[in-house]
Amino acid sequence: MNHPRPSRAAPAPATAPANPGELVRAELGAAEEKLTRQLDSNEALISEICHYLVEGAGKRLRPLFILLVYRACGGPDGKLPDAIDAAIALELIHSATLLHDDIIDGGVLRRGKPSAFARYGFAPSLVAGDFLFCRAFELCGRFEERLVRVAAQACIQLTEGEVMEGRMRQSGGATLENYTGVIERKTASLFAAGGRVAADLAGAGDATIAAMDRLGRSFGLAFQMVDDLLDVIGPEEKIGKPVGSDLRAGVLSLPVILACADHGRRPRDWRPGAALEGAAFDRALALMREPELIERGRALAVEQIEAAHALLARLEPSPYRDALAALIDEQIDRDF
Ligand code: IPE
Ligand code: IPE
Ligand code: MG
Ligand code: MG
Repeated sequence: MNHPRPSRAAPAPATAPANPGELVRAELGAAEEKLTRQLDSNEALISEICHYLVEGAGKRLRPLFILLVYRACGGPDGKLPDAIDAAIALELIHSATLLHDDIIDGGVLRRGKPSAFARYGFAPSLVAGDFLFCRAFELCGRFEERLVRVAAQACIQLTEGEVMEGRMRQSGGATLENYTGVIERKTASLFAAGGRVAADLAGAGDATIAAMDRLGRSFGLAFQMVDDLLDVIGPEEKIGKPVGSDLRAGVLSLPVILACADHGRRPRDWRPGAALEGAAFDRALALMREPELIERGRALAVEQIEAAHALLARLEPSPYRDALAALIDEQIDRDF
């Protein structure tokens, strides 16, 4: 689909590398190798589920974000093993939330293949998720207390976000403010924790640590908003799950929230938050794919992208900062 693009206040610097991951390729490779080793359990079924999910086609966005923030904040080689462990811990936490999220949402496709929930069922996916949460804390438990607390707070927010989302679904309606509160917790909290921990490990001052926390938050908000828009735009091969999955499941995603506000054009038989199928699903999906609505959603994501760029500008210029700028822009340029 071709949607008009709003102008951006802060374009990617001309020096940005073509692939933001290039500069930390070795670090990402080390993280990947160690991540794989965290997936083994004495119980074969747990190992199988964890390997099945984690070795699927994940983008590894959180490790990349953390490692780039660490380097962009001047993180030295000497403390790189800590930054790598933090990156792995966040990817483990993210993986755990995916296992649990597919149970909650009834998600049957994940990373382009049957979800663990669809393949192994409810209870095995639940315990495998718990196992991955524990592995994450086993890995970063040796860090200073304030860093462990940051990770724990992110996990608390993730769980609260999922429950808030369910509560909104039950109540059948939500405002943009409610929506932002949910995605701040269920998605942005992990990026904010990543930004904070990476800057702290790099030895940055308090102001920079706080700025990287806020940068992670804006990055995470934009990422989730775009993810919600792509859910209705598709296509399935690109997003790794059927088009309109959120809508079908009754998730109050960004297009749903925007359409809710548009009372005049809302299908009469549609109660936001209720699962949809058949002709009612087709009608609601058509409404959510309207370019004007997609554009409004995209403009909200662009606001967060601009906030992230403004925070990034506080760091000293470096190729890592340029790579982060490119990574931020990639989120809004995800195939609209
Ligand atoms: C999926 O996150 C869950 C959301 C927060 C939208 P990603 O899109 O980063 O998932 P993977 O790791 O690449 O599969
Ligand atoms: C994303 O939830 C946040 C998580 C905690 C996984 P979603 O339900 O929006 O993500 P997808 O669309 O299933 O990846
Ligand atoms: Mg889901
Ligand atoms: Mg969900």
